[in-house]
Amino acid sequence: MENIFHHIINSFFLLTCLQVVKSLRISEFIVPRNAFEGSDARIICSYDLEGYPLYTLKWYRNEEEFFRYEPKAKEPYMYLPVKGIKINRSNSTHILLSNVNKFTEGSFACEVSTDIQFQTLHQESHLTIVASRSSDNLSTYSSRNVITVLLLLQLMVSHQIIKSHFSVNLNVGNS
Ligand SMILES: *[C@@H]1O[C@H](CO)[C@@H](O)[C@H](O)[C@H]1NC(C)=O
Ligand SMILES: *[C@@H]1O[C@H](CO)[C@@H](O)[C@H](O)[C@H]1NC(C)=O
Ligand SMILES: *[C@@H]1O[C@H](CO)[C@@H](O)[C@H](O)[C@H]1NC(C)=O
Repeated sequence: MENIFHHIINSFFLLTCLQVVKSLRISEFIVPRNAFEGSDARIICSYDLEGYPLYTLKWYRNEEEFFRYEPKAKEPYMYLPVKGIKINRSNSTHILLSNVNKFTEGSFACEVSTDIQFQTLHQESHLTIVASRSSDNLSTYSSRNVITVLLLLQLMVSHQIIKSHFSVNLNVGNS
């Protein structure tokens, strides 16, 4: 009898633990798929820990850590130097990356750890940097214009040729 009772208590405990583990989650994760070169990019990692204390929130770019938030540490915010990563401002969930460039590109991962059983949540997504329109240099811009002007000229000329050809034919027909 005592054994059964013990068994029930154990099962209940296990279920409770599973429930706790299941309820911890990353509630919002945003890494833009694309960002223009030279622009700012906001990345977000919000978490629902059901009231359990956060141990650390870490951000990685291609598995290299660039940001750590550890609320219980003497200095809760830690910024690690990673090429192409410039943080304008940040808090426990949001980071604003400044002046993104080709070196910023890669896989961005957020890792949330709790004090409870050192549970860790992880999510990641790829950010691609695309050349901005302003970085189009003058030569590209003007060569596009030249092509447009050439096409227009060709259109005008061929139109003129058809028209004059037609009028010549008319003249021939008249005489
Ligand atoms: C942060 O961004 C603001 C505009 O949102 C800008 O005025 C400021 O210079 C930036 N600071 C740094 C350190 O990049
Ligand atoms: C973090 O900053 C964003 C805006 O940059 C704000 O919307 C959000 O509420 C802030 N979160 C906390 C926990 O302060
Ligand atoms: C301008 O653009 C062309 C083609 O995209 C490139 O080959 C050239 O190096 C660029 N010139 C400058 C000065 O950036």
